[in-house]
Amino acid sequence: MIDLRSDTVTRPSEEMREAARDAPVGDDVYREDPTVNDLQERVANVLGTEASLFVPSGTMGNQIAGRVHTERGQEVLCERESHIYKWELAGLAQHAEVQPRTIDGGERGAISPAQVREGYVAEDGHRPGTGLVTLENTHNSKGGVALAPAEIEATAEAAHDLGVSVHLDGARLFNAAVAQDCPASEFVAPVDTVMCCLSKGLGAPVGSMLAGPESVVEEARRIRKLFGGGMRQAGMIAAPGVRALENRERLGEDHRRAERLADGLAGIDGLSVDSPETNIVLVHTERDAEAVLDDCENEGVLGVPFAERTIRFCTHWDISDEDIEEAIAAVERAI
Ligand SMILES: Cc1ncc(COP(=O)(O)O)c(C=O)c1O
Repeated sequence: MIDLRSDTVTRPSEEMREAARDAPVGDDVYREDPTVNDLQERVANVLGTEASLFVPSGTMGNQIAGRVHTERGQEVLCERESHIYKWELAGLAQHAEVQPRTIDGGERGAISPAQVREGYVAEDGHRPGTGLVTLENTHNSKGGVALAPAEIEATAEAAHDLGVSVHLDGARLFNAAVAQDCPASEFVAPVDTVMCCLSKGLGAPVGSMLAGPESVVEEARRIRKLFGGGMRQAGMIAAPGVRALENRERLGEDHRRAERLADGLAGIDGLSVDSPETNIVLVHTERDAEAVLDDCENEGVLGVPFAERTIRFCTHWDISDEDIEEAIAAVERAI
């Protein structure tokens, strides 16, 4: 089976398994796990932030950020299709007790500076006040669109001018960095916090990072504990994360394969395909997406339904050039 459902389905390499086995460990709730400390320092260096915090999942990283930056009863400006709003079980409402105000970021899922100014609400006797703006790069629901650092900077500046913090959901930040050919730190410099995942294209079995200024990460550590994310000998899972950081440049191969997949699928009658910027390929079908996916599965390819007539295929490090050719042929048979 060629599994193109997500870049989270990867299996850890032998090196990652060995690193997990051999990791020096301690109790991370006491901050005594040397491997976790090492990972946090490395990630802060890569992102150009003062500090970073190891969290079990991207969702927890985003939710901690929502809580850290806001006060109960405020509003958060989120893109309408963003993960933090759409795919995290209304976590902002439950964990931070805030009200999301959604903004249509158009085809690229980009919130503009003008939209921030328009969506901003000043606190008074009737209005809740805006506490946070969230951005997403790459944008999952928009097919892995990679915003440029300048776009992030302009929107963040508009928020900061209004005294509002900005959190970047960078679950696939390193895909954006490769696609835009610039260091990840350039996307992070304009925002207050960033979350990035080690367990997506980088291939770690588990784990994400929340990064930002020392004082914010310190508060994030308290909230992580509150959310039940304080871990003990977490070096066992942080060690594969350290190895995963070495896979950043390799993401370019996933992007190249996504492009080839999109080209191949675009040649099949009955499909129209968005041109991918990173490792996500959105395919529009004439028939119901679920039915098409059932037929694809029967031919040996897996994807996920994204809308009634849209399928997402995602390339990742367990997928080879041969798999892509086979997948194209299999989808053609299914169609
Ligand atoms: C953009 C984005 N943000 C956050 C997450 C959440 O990550 P996790 O599955 O590790 O909770 C995902 C997961 O797919 C994602 O695509």
